[in-house]
Amino acid sequence: MSDPVFLTRVVLRNYKSIGYCDVRLNPLTYLVGANGSGKSNFLDALHLVRDALEGSLDTALNMRSGLSEVRRRSSGRPTNFGIRLEFSLKSGQRGHYAFNIGALAGRGYEVQNEECVLGGVGKGPYFRIERGVLQASSETTFPVVTADRLALVAVSGMAVFRPVFDALSAMGFYNLNPKLMRELQKPQEGRLLKPMGENIASVIGDLERVASERLEIIQEYLQTVAPMVHGVERKSIGSMETLEFRQDMAGAKHPWRFPAQNMSDGTLRALGVLTALFQGNRDYAPSLVGIEEPETALHPAASAALREALARAAHHTQVIVTSHSPDLLDDRNLSADSLLAVLSEGGETHIATLDDASRTSMHDQLFSAGELLRLNQLAPDRKALTAQAQAQADLFGEISP
Ligand SMILES: Nc1ncnc2c1ncn2[C@@H]1O[C@H](COP(=O)(O)OP(=O)(O)O)[C@@H](O)[C@H]1O
Ligand SMILES: [Mg+2]
Repeated sequence: MSDPVFLTRVVLRNYKSIGYCDVRLNPLTYLVGANGSGKSNFLDALHLVRDALEGSLDTALNMRSGLSEVRRRSSGRPTNFGIRLEFSLKSGQRGHYAFNIGALAGRGYEVQNEECVLGGVGKGPYFRIERGVLQASSETTFPVVTADRLALVAVSGMAVFRPVFDALSAMGFYNLNPKLMRELQKPQEGRLLKPMGENIASVIGDLERVASERLEIIQEYLQTVAPMVHGVERKSIGSMETLEFRQDMAGAKHPWRFPAQNMSDGTLRALGVLTALFQGNRDYAPSLVGIEEPETALHPAASAALREALARAAHHTQVIVTSHSPDLLDDRNLSADSLLAVLSEGGETHIATLDDASRTSMHDQLFSAGELLRLNQLAPDRKALTAQAQAQADLFGEISP
């Protein structure tokens, strides 16, 4: 099986509450921390990259109320933010993509630097752009670039950069919304589940047609999480579509059929999470799936099944989840390596692997991560945070391993 890890390392500077963070990601990464600690901001930085490539930088910033809301507000008043993503493509080729976005004196913003490097600096395809001017590239011809857009969009037509563009655009981020999942939906392209589950009927319909084995996995887990539910399918209603669930009813011989409208929040959210995790087919699958608080509205007893589904999905797709739920993390077999602790101090978010004390007690199976979270003892490693702060690597070029 190919390595599920797409993003190997994420470096962020001045993104919302995150002053600086430099972390490595695993096949399955739990971002754990109190409410308001900055977990969603981390996922949102990755989501912004997806949005900016799929649409434009302008729409990605506008969706977030503009650059002034995205860059970190602090006494130091940083005027720019930066993102560096190190990745490993399905082909095995490694590389990084990085950019800085800064405010312009009047109004608006510009891409100050943008860089994409494959196979190591100077060893494979690359480009480096400064304020809309190409500085260096492995390619002899290069499209026109401008300072208000990401050049990776412009070069996505070039065979050497296409796989980077495709993989970054195939990241999926989810904050499932049962209300939207319940409404009648317009039939649409069902290749990738949308962020709130607003096209879930199309995605389930797509799986029925081209990846029934994946739909079976989804139904199996759904039944463990919501034992009354026996299955789900797409159902058209006039020109619209919805989901229909088969559910046991006391005294009835055959399961009853329920439209999504009558399903509980918990069941709909669970279905959304499972669909996000197992969506795709032989030709197309997300490169990474980020899910906000997958345990919301679920009975604590369903946590074990949810954990298992997350671990199973992470065999084929990289998964990142945010959580502040001790129940979800109540498993002494959960490896400390799969957790990143998120902490807010004085309005600034810090993210790092767990400290030695937590790691040791988890390793010795004295406490599960959930128990440590209940005891308020899941903290980022101070040494790692100091190292991050000291290194404060440049987002560009080769950075220390
Ligand atoms: N541009 C910004 N600068 C500084 N802090 C910000 C910015 N945008 C949001 N925040 C802060 O981020 C915090 C929320 O982080 P969030 O990622 O939603 O937390 P979590 O998901 O862990 O509950 C809030 O305290 C908010 O004030
Ligand atoms: Mg959040």
